[in-house]
Amino acid sequence: IMDGNGRWATARGLPRVAGHRVGARAVRRTVENAPRLGIRTLTLYAFSSDNWKRPKSEVDALMTLLRDYLRRETARCIKNGVRFRMIGRRDRLGPDLVVAIEQAERATAAGDRLDLRIAIDYSSRDLLVEAARRVAAAGTNGSTSRETFGRALAEAYHDAYGCPDVDLLIRTGGEQRLSDFLLWECAYAELAFLPVRWPDFAVADLERALTEFRSRERRFGAVADPATGTGQRAG
Ligand code: FPP
Repeated sequence: IMDGNGRWATARGLPRVAGHRVGARAVRRTVENAPRLGIRTLTLYAFSSDNWKRPKSEVDALMTLLRDYLRRETARCIKNGVRFRMIGRRDRLGPDLVVAIEQAERATAAGDRLDLRIAIDYSSRDLLVEAARRVAAAGTNGSTSRETFGRALAEAYHDAYGCPDVDLLIRTGGEQRLSDFLLWECAYAELAFLPVRWPDFAVADLERALTEFRSRERRFGAVADPATGTGQRAG
């Protein structure tokens, strides 16, 4: 969760949009370094469905930034084996952004070093409601058991959004909340809340967060392994 762009800019007497612009550079260095650091899937929260409430000038600037980023970075993604996919609603985005998304998705489809997913007009709750609606519409062959419905819901959700579970969630900017991001996928995620503002997020910050993550014991609700006295090592 790339938070703190606005505060980064305000602290420098700059318009908030300047923070987003410098934030886009942090996106680029994070994407470029992720595969080398052992990351196979990276999901970035670029625009939440609640962000429509921001002033129109900021929303427009963010949309333009996203479109330009996709146009500019597609060639580099192909070269680096990055596969790009957008998650979220497309029906409220401008047609030129949708075209840029579709082109980038098509052009990078063969990438196999990093699955990069950018969330735009994203609301985790909305996607869960949508998956539930699909199950309700398709039915569960008359079964009303929790197991059957749960399995059908998990399948519908996964088919539509294809998201692996999150291992590590990093939020910059100092706030400690999820803001409707990947609620299902974060069921067992390790959480890292960093004080650094997103435009300042450096590769060294990512490396430190990964080192800390690898030292954590992940038990997924079970008890520690009696043979070793530990749960599953994270990394
Ligand atoms: C949160 O900071 C950040 C956003 C709402 C936008 C994130 C967008 C980018 C980093 C721009 C480019 C993205 C890509 C994928 C190229 P905030 O504005 O809420 O900061 P604040 O909490 O300090 O006000």
